[in-house]
Amino acid sequence: MKKIQLISLITLVSSLLFSFALSAQTVQSQKQAEAAVQFRQAILQLVRSNMGPMGAMAKGEIPYDAQLMIKNSQRIEQLGLMMEDYFRPDTREFDVETAALDKIWENEADFYKKAQDMVTAAINVQEIATAGAQDEYRKAIGSLGATCKACHDDYKAD
Ligand code: HEC
Repeated sequence: MKKIQLISLITLVSSLLFSFALSAQTVQSQKQAEAAVQFRQAILQLVRSNMGPMGAMAKGEIPYDAQLMIKNSQRIEQLGLMMEDYFRPDTREFDVETAALDKIWENEADFYKKAQDMVTAAINVQEIATAGAQDEYRKAIGSLGATCKACHDDYKAD
């Protein structure tokens, strides 16, 4: 193979690889769109499952339990960190059953900031629980709950 041919082959291959990398987050099929919705909803179901007991604790329905607060808010922290990756697939063009509003992909930076607010509030719950600050835990859980509402108000259909 002549040198010039080799160079153009390398150029072709690398541009193909580059376009593949760019489209890796683009949803290509109905099947992919449905999977993307399932995964992101699964994350939020786990968020709910970990938030539930803390909400009950803040209301005084179950006793104060610092270990439970630490464990559940660590999980919410991790789930919050996953949200950016799992919401990146843009499903707007597909016929999927979702409560995610189109606005998410028009304001991605704000959406991810709201996910980060949940992460920060979850870390705060861990700190309050670790410090054993029993006079502050209700407020910390309340602030975490407020981050759910802040995002749902803007980006989730009722
Ligand atoms: C950064 C934005 C954001 C934050 C923060 C957020 N949510 Fe959501 N949530 C959404 C969006 C968007 C949907 C809709 C997802 C879909 O239907 O594809 C959703 C859906 C849900 C669902 C329904 C999932 C399903 O199976 O359809 C539950 C439950 C939920 N959220 C609970 C919570 C709780 C509890 C918190 C706070 C601890 C929270 N969310 C924080 C954006 C957020």
